[in-house]
Amino acid sequence: MSEVNKNQRDFWSGKGGDIWVERQNAMDTMLSPLGEAALNKLNLNEGENVLDIGCGCGHTTLNIAKRISPDGQVTGLDISEPMLKRAKESANEMSISNASFNCVDVQTDDMGEEVYSAAFSRFGVMFFEDPVAAFCNINKSLITGASLSFVCWQSPALNPWQSLFIEAVKKYVDLPSPPPRSPSPFAFMESEYVSSILEESNFQNIMIEGHEAEVNMFSGRSLSDSVKDYISINPVVSGMLKDSTEQEKTEIINSAIEAFSPYYSAKGLMFPSATWLVTAIK
Ligand SMILES: C[S@@+](CC[C@H](N)C(=O)[O-])C[C@H]1O[C@@H](n2cnc3c(N)ncnc32)[C@H](O)[C@@H]1O
Repeated sequence: MSEVNKNQRDFWSGKGGDIWVERQNAMDTMLSPLGEAALNKLNLNEGENVLDIGCGCGHTTLNIAKRISPDGQVTGLDISEPMLKRAKESANEMSISNASFNCVDVQTDDMGEEVYSAAFSRFGVMFFEDPVAAFCNINKSLITGASLSFVCWQSPALNPWQSLFIEAVKKYVDLPSPPPRSPSPFAFMESEYVSSILEESNFQNIMIEGHEAEVNMFSGRSLSDSVKDYISINPVVSGMLKDSTEQEKTEIINSAIEAFSPYYSAKGLMFPSATWLVTAIK
């Protein structure tokens, strides 16, 4: 198997994917309003053929399927076997027949030519080793005039659930930050960089809009379980801590609990968030 995107495949088809499946409801509660904001930009009509990039457990794919039913089709592509398995199970449970899911690396695998009339992603486009290659591949799979819309995170400084956690880690372990723009939830935090990727991939009418909203993380979980879940669902954070001792991990968890506690209420963790809503046309 190819070495390209191997770290991401290992995370999303390994422990990371398993925890995303286990915590699917909580992740959907957190991310749904942000995904909806991006999806509404597409103005989907019945009968469209839609691509959901990095679809994960398929919540967004199945929502799209309902919006474009009965004549439309949606395809969710992802590299995570456990998340795709969950997505297929949900489609069966909900008797949705116009959604299909395939294990495809959007950067390296063949996605066909001029197939889709629209493409969407909820936080599934920031993990490519070569984003231009990935977006060229996406572009090739779209018909001329098709719309693209996705949501991605702005900088950690505007997303305290990340910046407070990193501060907590750095009190105990001196870890180098991952190289800027390397695959991670924050790879697309610079809007000029996102714009340049889309330009190089032959997209037109590129629009990038800042979006701020409160997010509810790990609804229904205790504060300490929320912190532990947070470590497991984030590929960069998991990677940072993988060589830490048990003692260091305990100290980091306790320090993060203290930092997160002002944001904890009966609903769970409530944090301000900042994302980019990105749209473009082929
Ligand atoms: C942060 S998760 C978001 C999942 C889902 N869109 C959601 O909102 O719940 C990122 C997703 O991108 C997928 N992904 C990462 N690299 C990919 C690649 N090269 N091709 C396809 N999917 C990829 C991961 O497996 C993971 O499911």
